[in-house]
Amino acid sequence: MEELYSGKAKTLYRIEPGKLLMRFRDDVTAFDGKRKEVAGGKGVLSAKTSAKLFELLEEAGIPTHYICYRGGPDMIVKEAKVIPIEVIVRNYAYGSLLKRMPLLKPLQKFTRPIIELHFKSDELHDPLILPQDVIEAGLLTEDELREVERLALEVNNVLRNFFESKGYRLIDFKIEVGRVDGKLVVVDELSGDTMRILDSEGRHLDKEVFRKGGSVQELLEAYKRLAEIVGEPRRV
Ligand code: C5P
Repeated sequence: MEELYSGKAKTLYRIEPGKLLMRFRDDVTAFDGKRKEVAGGKGVLSAKTSAKLFELLEEAGIPTHYICYRGGPDMIVKEAKVIPIEVIVRNYAYGSLLKRMPLLKPLQKFTRPIIELHFKSDELHDPLILPQDVIEAGLLTEDELREVERLALEVNNVLRNFFESKGYRLIDFKIEVGRVDGKLVVVDELSGDTMRILDSEGRHLDKEVFRKGGSVQELLEAYKRLAEIVGEPRRV
């Protein structure tokens, strides 16, 4: 298989034209890669979680790059032209938002979700950008930007309702978008690496465990719980 790209926790291979294998590795990083460890089994847990959450989005009619779960740490996806922005949706105040806006109280619930756009750049640490920056840089048209915001809110509705129905809070998450045959779709992953989920006792089921200095074992326990709550993806 042709290796296309290797990121902090995933490697992408091209299986055939237009079709990619996304392999979730066991690597876990935090603080721009300054803390890096190997968590044996994380890849499989994140692949399962991501596959199942993409299935929920597809069932709700949200276009995504997801094709199927291949077992183990592997998900099969459509090849997309990825737009170099990160779209963060926040339901509660947490993380970098609290640093930027200290008047907010930690875990304060927002009257409506906050959408943020960030430019994907390790060098610049994914800076917050304005909607107009995206348009003027030619990354999206005005209509496409509205579509991206609509997609982000739809993803939020599906995921938030799903976790709330099981007694958990979806604090925030990040999605990426790309074009497949010119159409905007949700790409990348949906896992403990890209969202924050709290249980009723305020415990994290996501990478915050590791960011706060928890061990690899504690991270794996959180990801196991998350995978169990989310449930098994379909197998092909
Ligand atoms: O750190 P911050 O509060 O901005 O993160 C908001 C959400 O976006 C979190 O769920 C985090 O896991 C996710 N995120 C991500 N990739 C990044 C930055 C944030 O998945 N590069």
